[in-house]
Amino acid sequence: MAGENTSVKNFYKDRSIFITGATGFMGKVLVEKLLRSCPEIKNIYLLMRPKRGQNVQERLQKLLNEPLFETLRRDSPGELTKMIPVAGDITQPQLGISIEDKTLLIQSVSIVFHLAATINFNEALKLSVTVNTLATKRLVQLFKDMHHNVEAFIHVSTAYCNCDQKNVAEEIYSVRPEPDLMIALTEGMDDKILEECTPILIGSRPNTYTFTKALAERMLQQERGSLPVAIVRPSIVTSSYREPVAGWTDNYNGPTGLVLAAGKGVFRTMLCHEEKVADLVPVDIVINLMICAAWRIATQPTDSIPIYNCCTGSQNPITWKQFIDLSILKYCRLHPMDNVLWYPDVRCHRSSKINTLCVKLQHNIPAYILDTLARLKGSRPRMVSHQTKLSKAAKGFEYFTTNQWSFWDNNVQQLCKQLSPEDRNTFMFNVRQIDWPSYLEHYILGIRQFILRESPDTLPAARSRMKKLYWIHKTMQLMGLIIMLCVFLTLLYFILRTCGLIV
Ligand SMILES: NC(=O)c1ccc[n+]([C@@H]2O[C@H](COP(=O)([O-])OP(=O)(O)OC[C@H]3O[C@@H](n4cnc5c(N)ncnc54)[C@H](OP(=O)(O)O)[C@@H]3O)[C@@H](O)[C@H]2O)c1
Repeated sequence: MAGENTSVKNFYKDRSIFITGATGFMGKVLVEKLLRSCPEIKNIYLLMRPKRGQNVQERLQKLLNEPLFETLRRDSPGELTKMIPVAGDITQPQLGISIEDKTLLIQSVSIVFHLAATINFNEALKLSVTVNTLATKRLVQLFKDMHHNVEAFIHVSTAYCNCDQKNVAEEIYSVRPEPDLMIALTEGMDDKILEECTPILIGSRPNTYTFTKALAERMLQQERGSLPVAIVRPSIVTSSYREPVAGWTDNYNGPTGLVLAAGKGVFRTMLCHEEKVADLVPVDIVINLMICAAWRIATQPTDSIPIYNCCTGSQNPITWKQFIDLSILKYCRLHPMDNVLWYPDVRCHRSSKINTLCVKLQHNIPAYILDTLARLKGSRPRMVSHQTKLSKAAKGFEYFTTNQWSFWDNNVQQLCKQLSPEDRNTFMFNVRQIDWPSYLEHYILGIRQFILRESPDTLPAARSRMKKLYWIHKTMQLMGLIIMLCVFLTLLYFILRTCGLIV
């Protein structure tokens, strides 16, 4: 075991790592960062399942070709050969790993990062328990067998697994039913009955995701034995702050899909308490914290499970109003996406009735009109289907835009203080350093470049289209005002005439 004074980078020297969820948004950033910043790592074993007709070797090759790995491909391609895929599926007994691979892992792995999960908020309870809770138990069981080797087991949870509390400390909260009972219930109960009982079982939590992540934490507390476990709980993870490039992201999760739709001009109203904190945290900051959390539990073992609330709300808060003003109203207009349909503008509403009315007027009716026009032109109607998906995403997100939590982060602060200045810079997770306007500018540019794959060369044309849309938008607003004024004056005229005040 490394001494207390070992730097983070040196700690990873000659060690082998096992990662679940490496093909996901956060897992990719973890693999890239480990290979780039800890070049003396021995091997990284990646648990992968075959998917969409691709075996794990093909999936690895696809991963390596992604833009995220460009720096490594260019500067140190040799590092990429340290990635070794291990076929498996965490929903299966023994995680679907072959005996040979299991033996290999037992002999080689020192550090485990467990990220695999279903992050679908409203996944069926059975699948959510299997992936998020039972799989964590299976992983602990696998590595308990090899605990003489494993120096750190980092479990990635979510800050919102205790969203039924307003003040969330860095501790594990009890959850009812207990994990083993819940696993037994999902295994024994008929699917339909389980679906009907889901609202009762998840209790005051808003969805199956937060519930099953809370169960996983409690299960770790009960099952880990002497395994050195630490838990990292990020809030809402968004694009990278600076590594390997600022603004990198590859998915529509969290606010990103809604911001993208707002940037295109098709998402214009949402239920949101503007003054509440938007607890967003850049993905590379979470990854740096995870890497350091593993170093700390391995070099300074403890009997308890250290928990790290990886959030921005208490150190460097930003409100939803600031987030929307900067990301959508400023940067989506300054760096427009290609083929924007309407001038980007989003209004927040506190009343769900008013928001529902605005959704009908601003999302649904225009979608039906556009789809009718598309049919008349002989092209495929798509807007109604897009709006249905957007509505679902916005609905799932409402709980987080209309509530606020205070996430305590003393352990994160402590960990930061323990690092050498060099490690603090290489594995930066001090959220106070985030300059939100600059971060959000890169966030919008990143959505444009990495999700929409729009070249920066198309920006001038997009900007000139945005200017036209601005004038069309303003003209429409003016016309709306004139129509309302005419209606008002006509009504007034009739009222005054009826009352005999004018002839
Ligand atoms: N993103 C956020 O805002 C956020 C916030 C807080 C916490 N977290 C936590 O961070 C972790 C990573 O999240 P993420 O955003 O990176 O999620 P993600 O992009 O959806 O990635 C999920 C990963 O889990 C893998 N996985 C799912 N089911 C599997 C199975 N049956 N067998 C093997 N692998 C399986 C996926 O593999 P495939 O590629 O094969 O599907 C993928 O690699 C999760 O534990 C999540 O709860 C995320």
